[in-house]
Amino acid sequence: MEEALDLLVTGIGRLVTAEGTFPKGGKGMGMLKSIPKAAIAARARRVVAAGPEEEVLAAAGDRPVGRWLDAAGRLVTPGLIDAHTHLVHAGSREHELSLKLQGVSYLEILAAGGGIQRTVSDTRRAAEDDLYEKARRTLDVMMTMGTTTVEAKSGYGLEWETERKQLRVARELNRHHPMDVVSTFLGAHAVPGEYRDRPDDYVAQVAEEMVPAVAREHLAEFCDVFCEEGVFSVRQSRVILEAGRRWGLRPKVHADEMADTGGAELAAEVGAISADHLLHASEDGLRALAEGGVVAVLLPGTAFFLGETPAPARKMIDEFALPVALATDYNPGSSPTESLQLIMAMAAATMRMTPEEIVTAVTLNAACALGRGGETGTLEPGKWADFVLWEAENPAYLVYRFGVNHTHAVVKKGHVVAVNKKVVGSC
Ligand code: NIG
Ligand code: FE
Repeated sequence: MEEALDLLVTGIGRLVTAEGTFPKGGKGMGMLKSIPKAAIAARARRVVAAGPEEEVLAAAGDRPVGRWLDAAGRLVTPGLIDAHTHLVHAGSREHELSLKLQGVSYLEILAAGGGIQRTVSDTRRAAEDDLYEKARRTLDVMMTMGTTTVEAKSGYGLEWETERKQLRVARELNRHHPMDVVSTFLGAHAVPGEYRDRPDDYVAQVAEEMVPAVAREHLAEFCDVFCEEGVFSVRQSRVILEAGRRWGLRPKVHADEMADTGGAELAAEVGAISADHLLHASEDGLRALAEGGVVAVLLPGTAFFLGETPAPARKMIDEFALPVALATDYNPGSSPTESLQLIMAMAAATMRMTPEEIVTAVTLNAACALGRGGETGTLEPGKWADFVLWEAENPAYLVYRFGVNHTHAVVKKGHVVAVNKKVVGSC
């Protein structure tokens, strides 16, 4: 007899998904498959069939079905993918709000020993179990909001034991939480106070000691640097990213966030999988990203929170045909939100991205920014059965009706993990 299906979802009012395993740039970002009266069948955690209901039912034949769900006419999309977060950290930084309101800038707060440095001291002091518990709760919130894969950066240790502690927490969460957690080493997030007068010594320590240790212990897939005026220069960033590459950690770059320092060009030069922020990237930088096939990960929540003009998404898509992804940048300083849905609304309202482009940006392109385009990001046979049933009829409604959680149910690898905005069971 044919093998049983683990999950069959019928009665989908509309199934909307990008297609393929490579990032979509330019006009391709707006081209989605949109299927009325659809169904999805899953087995062994993966999609077996997704498409018109009659076709899926015909493919299912008379196979036994473990769980049969009626979507009752709801919209279904792939699970959301948050390709840039600072998931694991201690504490919060609401006290910085009053400084901000007085006009003190993000980089001024950092230079005065606050900002990232404050979270570094909190995280250094925190017990590993407490970091785990805080990040676990965050993942639960993200999951109830439709996120099924998340990237997690270190970078609140700035010394080996704490960087390692953060990366171990992310690794354990990936093992025990339904969410897929993809780790990035960000030892170069700021120059630690101890090295203020000799930043190159810290750069050497990250490149020559921490990067090899991360690789030996298999603690991360990617290596990131905060390449920014007053933080790490292009020269220093290059040293670290090339060391990462030699040790098998693919580069990512926090690039041109507050000023154009040539971060986008550097990302292309070192073969980064993504360049993130890009508010001030030059035209040469954007061209280099397009030629290098680098995904532009945009973080409009951060621009909003810091009172900055958001990245020029239209120019990136229309003039440079760049593949754009969107992420929360969830962190305690510049974007304290778990909600990719809010970021989606901001992408339309502040960057004039269309609902279709936004869906591609938080699914397929985000998956590709994490090297997961072959595994998730679209609803096609062979990919993980990661999807969301929405209290909506079309993607435009999700983007237009902002500030609320539209999920009805979230499915991760064929298991229902959240219903009515609450986590259920476990994988
Ligand atoms: O992506 N820009 C640097 N890093 C984070 C902020 C981290 C923090 O402020 O704690 C970001 O915005
Ligand atoms: Fe960030």
